[in-house]
Amino acid sequence: MHLFEYKNRELYAEDVPVRKIVREFGTPIYIYSYNTLLNHFKAYESAFGNFPHIICFALKANSNAAIIKLFAKNGGGADVVSGGELFRALKAGIPAKKIVYAGVGKTEEEIIYALKNKILMFNVESEDELREIDRIAAKTKTIAPIALRINPDIDPETHPYISTGLKKHKFGIPIENALEYYKLANNLKHIEIVGIHKHIGSQLTKVSPFVDALKRILILVDELTRQGIRISYLDIGGGLGITYKDEVPPNPSQLAKNILPLLKDRKLTIVLEPGRSIVGNAGILVTKTLYLKEGQEKTFVIVDAGMNDLMRPTLYGAYHHIQPVVKNKRDKIIADIVGPICESGDFLAKDREIQKVKNGEYLAVMSAGAYGFAMSSNYNSRPKAAEVMVKGKKYELIRKRETFNDIIRGEIIPGFI
Ligand code: LLP
Repeated sequence: MHLFEYKNRELYAEDVPVRKIVREFGTPIYIYSYNTLLNHFKAYESAFGNFPHIICFALKANSNAAIIKLFAKNGGGADVVSGGELFRALKAGIPAKKIVYAGVGKTEEEIIYALKNKILMFNVESEDELREIDRIAAKTKTIAPIALRINPDIDPETHPYISTGLKKHKFGIPIENALEYYKLANNLKHIEIVGIHKHIGSQLTKVSPFVDALKRILILVDELTRQGIRISYLDIGGGLGITYKDEVPPNPSQLAKNILPLLKDRKLTIVLEPGRSIVGNAGILVTKTLYLKEGQEKTFVIVDAGMNDLMRPTLYGAYHHIQPVVKNKRDKIIADIVGPICESGDFLAKDREIQKVKNGEYLAVMSAGAYGFAMSSNYNSRPKAAEVMVKGKKYELIRKRETFNDIIRGEIIPGFI
């Protein structure tokens, strides 16, 4: 569900015509719907209801300060994977005690930063990292709260680049070794075991991999309890999919219905790390058609957004629905919708049927709120896009379009040149 709908052939973001926004702020531009974001966030809150829970929004999906602030104001926590994300989460007002920190390569500086700020827990991904956190906590005279990220060896049945919970992946600790590492953690003086973590992949369209992985984790939790190791936080990661084309993923309440029965009578706080399912369909990328080019074998619609703005089609062959900002009655064409970047891989869609567009008309790339702006770059020295948030009839810029000077900020010409 989202609030980007046509009214009289014209695409609206909530109550604002998209055309009005692009006329004011230009293209390419990301537009987010406040109420869609909030509805998606609240869907998790209400799905888990009275069961103790923290919804830790995965900042990697979209880390704009305004978006994090919105979740912070509504009781959200954060799942971070770098010092930069931790900085953003704290700055937006997410309480440190609602921040979990994952990632296979945390640096000493990042670990110190997180310890100083007293985050809820480190989701530890290896023995080396566990020992390193213990050493750094000792050095800084603190105790580090940790969960071990367990790799349950469950196939999430999603794109190979975004699946993480199989033995061959770099993430987490193999479930077979989990007990041994928990015992080790228990003996480390500056480590306090508080939780257990798993995340098996992203854009999951079935509930069964969540359930299967959780069952494996719970067997481990029981064994830990028998061994005197108490787990307070059960972090089940993120990963719920969204509809890009015709997928029908489970919603948060279906997820909750399937997993809460497995948790009843357990004194646990459940932590969730949703990213895509909250922001994905709450954002669109609007681009302007620059040229129509009839190639020898194909027709190309050349637009002003490229793979630097939205990398997903290039990187994963991901499908994003593309529709005109103002519908017309012209014939349909089959075309590649491509950006201005000097790479053949620079496309937003291939062999796509769309209504014929004229130069200067706008197209909306749907479901672009997650891993869209967050993965954008300055490749080809293109300034990063502007971002706008709409709430009802109101709309505001939440990130200025970059300028050429922004692009070169930080570059230094050495004296020897
Ligand atoms: N927690 C952990 C430990 C993760 O690694 C991820 C995503 C999430 C939570 C959030 O997952 P979500 O709810 O968004 O599925 N760039 C790719 C997606 C990479 C996902 C990486 N990890 C894409 O554009 O599809």
